[in-house]
Amino acid sequence: MNDASSTGRFITLEGGEGAGKSTQVTRLRDWLEKRGNAVVATREPGGAPGAEMVRKLLVEGPAERWDGTTEALLHFAARRDHLRSTVWPALARGTWTISDRFADSTLAYQGYGHGVDRTMLADLYRISVGDFHPDLTLILDLPIEIGLARAAARRGTETRYESLPTTFHERVRAGFLDIAAANPSRCVVIDANRDIDAIAEAIINAVRERLGA
Ligand code: TMP
Repeated sequence: MNDASSTGRFITLEGGEGAGKSTQVTRLRDWLEKRGNAVVATREPGGAPGAEMVRKLLVEGPAERWDGTTEALLHFAARRDHLRSTVWPALARGTWTISDRFADSTLAYQGYGHGVDRTMLADLYRISVGDFHPDLTLILDLPIEIGLARAAARRGTETRYESLPTTFHERVRAGFLDIAAANPSRCVVIDANRDIDAIAEAIINAVRERLGA
């Protein structure tokens, strides 16, 4: 957790494919800005020039391009660059930072989805992130058929994860719900199977309640 008196707050949005995270990041950013906060909206994989280069390697091409462990290493490499270049400087300036995905995605996709050893993922977290954690994580949950259909309708070249089988995405969804259950003081599950305004309102309520915004 970050000391609210000296730094901004770090909020992460998580969830499976097509959960509407990026729309909700923008809505939350606008709401926080209207209340007078400086806000940075960012994303993973990516969010910094080097990390965006790594993103391309991860989200394009055939599914079998990397095994789960290699993916985890690449995601943590991108994450460390994102933290050093974007997130930590913003928080140090007192800027609220909202990230479309963070390390829970690695646990859900590479851990639950691909079966990468969770102890190894915890070690990689400690090595690349240290004891830094989000102040609040909003997990957008919806049935995977709905999410995959939405994602397919808007995707360009970033199809690598979507092309994985339905059973993979079911494990990812269950993984996010497990993570939320294991970290109740940090995580709030948001029902994302409803209209954009209702989701935005649920997110704002959670931010108000948990962070006193
Ligand atoms: P996006 O579609 O939300 O921009 O995310 C790109 C893909 O990267 C998405 O399919 C989930 C995947 N991903 C992981 O597998 N592990 C991670 O740690 C992160 C941040 C994303």
